Parts: sequence; structure tokens; C-alpha cells
Amino acid sequence: MNIKNSKFDKVIIHYFSGTGNAKSVAHWIGDIANDMDINIQIVNIGRHEKANEKEITENTLLGFCYPTHGFNAPPIVIKYLWKLSALKSKNKFFVVNTRAGLKMSKVFIPGLSGLALLLPSIILILKGFRLIGYRSIDLPSNWISLHPGLKEKVIRSIFVRCKRITEGFSLKILSGNNVFTGFWWLPIDLALIPISLGYYFYGRFALSKTFIATSNCNGCNLCVENCPVNAIYMKDGKPYWSYKCESCMHCMNYCPTRAIETPHTFTAIIWWFSFAMLPLIIIDLLTHLTDFTGLEFKLIYDILLLILSISIIFSSYWLIHKLMNIKVFSKIMKYTSLTSYKFWRRYKAPKKFD
Ligand SMILES: Cc1cc2nc3c(=O)[nH]c(=O)nc-3n(C[C@H](O)[C@H](O)[C@H](O)COP(=O)(O)O)c2cc1C
Ligand code: SF4
Ligand code: SF4
Repeated sequence: MNIKNSKFDKVIIHYFSGTGNAKSVAHWIGDIANDMDINIQIVNIGRHEKANEKEITENTLLGFCYPTHGFNAPPIVIKYLWKLSALKSKNKFFVVNTRAGLKMSKVFIPGLSGLALLLPSIILILKGFRLIGYRSIDLPSNWISLHPGLKEKVIRSIFVRCKRITEGFSLKILSGNNVFTGFWWLPIDLALIPISLGYYFYGRFALSKTFIATSNCNGCNLCVENCPVNAIYMKDGKPYWSYKCESCMHCMNYCPTRAIETPHTFTAIIWWFSFAMLPLIIIDLLTHLTDFTGLEFKLIYDILLLILSISIIFSSYWLIHKLMNIKVFSKIMKYTSLTSYKFWRRYKAPKKFD
């Protein structure tokens, strides 16, 4: 392909990627830009705190590619966009979120964006940038805490389809045309806002406490070194996940000894206690100990529930980390984690697929 009709001198694509999907999209767009003789720069948000704005000239197109996390853009991406200064030149930009694509029989099933495109676009528009591209790419789901990674054949076929879609999108935006395909999803995306907010302010913190390292861990430190947000540190010779974790799934999918698991049974018990039993206990306590009624009652109930459930989730994680040094406990945790079984495949975006 050799097309040379772009309005842009340069394209800078900023990407964040846990398991390689968004990175692939950034590179596919980069390849088309190369074919169009446009100067291209691809920047990994996980390695740079802030964009190098000196590189942004008047005729630079800015691109942002990242996965969808909890119906939103990952916080690391939102922070990165927030730090970008408002530019006078009104540079154009596009946003692409990769979602959890599936394939059932011959049907490709898309993921759901929620605020993942909308929030970053609003932030950039408020800073003076001009939106020209807004779409999702449904690459394979990498959320292997929830389900096993897809089979290789399915992954390959999703990749082939998504590469073709991305190339079509790239040709249009790099030629200066607008592509707003993502707006077709707006009614569903808006309906998902409450869940996006719930994930942003609560869910992601709870999820960061669902990783454990089993006795397979040899202390190689790779997960610590490669975490894009430095969320893991070594404690008692084993990795410990802090609240900074973005649940990008990099560590779990790339651990060379498959030592990282999601302790499903333990998490289910803790979450059942925090969200089913605890509310009943608090209501019982409040009705017996106070004369509060109506709104006051509801407010005190909500605050107590929040404080107690967060404390239980946090302290139980600290406890499990300590107990994992006991052989029997560690074995029980491992065999009650679905992720430890062979059929529960890990996921990495394929490097070569066609
Ligand atoms: C914690 C977490 C939350 C996710 N939430 C969503 C979601 O709300 N909607 C969706 O379509 N995909 C969701 N996904 C799937 C990823 O966005 C998707 O697999 C993406 O392509 C991964 O890109 P990456 O390999 O660049 O990290 C989620 C994945 C994880 C790990
Ligand atoms: S990458 Fe795996 S083996 Fe290495 S320290 Fe992390 S959990 Fe342990
Ligand atoms: S701790 Fe693991 S899942 Fe969390 S941000 Fe780091 S690499 Fe991603």
C-alpha cells in the first residue's frame, strides 16, 4: 500500500495495554501511517508519566488507544490525559478503546464501552482538541480472573477481523475524515454510567485484592518490574498487590511459572460476607442501638457498610498473604482457585496471527 494524501505531518499514538490488544491496534494504525508517509510516533503511557508536548506540532494528529476497564478508560489513561495542557493549535485527535470481544460459533460478540470513549473525549475537547475518530475495537477479552482465556483459533480469527477493521478506520482518519462509529453505542454507554462509576470508585480497589502468588512463585521479580503502575512489591519474599493496581492482567498472564491466581472460593466467601451478611448485621445493630429513622438511618448505614466492607476486604487480603506461607493453606487456596487448573488458559495478544 502506498497512499499519500494525508493532511497530517505527524501522528503520535499514545497507548496503554495490559496484555497487548491496545498495543496491536496502535501498531496497526502506525503501519498505515507509515504507508501514507506520515511521520509516526508510538508512545507507551505505562512508561511515560506525561506526554512530551514539544513533539506536538500544529499539524500533528494525536491518537489514544487503551483497553476498557469496568466500562471506563483505565485510570492511568485518564490521569495522562488530564495532565496534557490545553493547546492553542487545536490539534485533532482520535480515541480507540479495545473491548472484550468474543466469538460464539461464527458470530463475533462485541464488548461494552460505558464511559471508555466518552470521558477521554470530553476531557480532550474541554482542553481544546478536536475529535475526529471515536470507535471501539473488539479484540479478545483478557479478563482471565473471570473466565479462561479464549482458544488460540478463536483469538486468531478475532484478530484477523479486528486488524481489517482498524486498517479501514486508520485510512479514513489519517486522510482527514471523521469516523464516529462509537456513537452508535451511546444509549447503552450512558445507561452503563452508574456501573462505570461504581467500578472506578470501588470495584477496582476490591479487584486489586484478588491476586495471590502460590508456591510456584520463584521470586523472579518480573511481575514487580513489568507492572505499568508499580502496583506490586515484594513482601515476605512474595509479590503483594497494592491498591494502585489497574487490573490490567499483565502480571497474571505473563508470570513465567503461572504462579499468580485469583482465589475464587476465598474471594466469594469474603464478598458474600461483606455484601450479603454484613448489611444484615449492620441493620440489626442500628435498629437495636439507635432511634434513627429514614434518611439519617440510611446515611449511617451506607457509611458503616462502606467502611466495614473495605476494612474486611483489605484486612482479609493482608491475612491471606501471611497465611500463604503455611503449606496446607497455600495448597487449599491454590486448588480452590479455578485459575490454577490447566483448562483455565492465560491470555496474551498474539505477536503473529496471519
Ligand atoms: C478488570 C477488567 C475490566 C474489563 N472491563 C471491560 C468492560 O467493561 N468492557 C469490555 O468490553 N471489556 C472489558 N475488559 C476487557 C478488556 O478491555 C479487553 O480484553 C481489552 O482488549 C484488553 O486490552 P489490552 O490487551 O490492551 O490490555 C476488561 C478487562 C479487565 C481485565
Ligand atoms: S512473575 Fe511470577 S514467579 Fe516471578 S515473582 Fe512474580 S509471581 Fe513470582
Ligand atoms: S499489578 Fe498486575 S494487574 Fe495490576 S496493574 Fe500491575 S501488572 Fe496490571
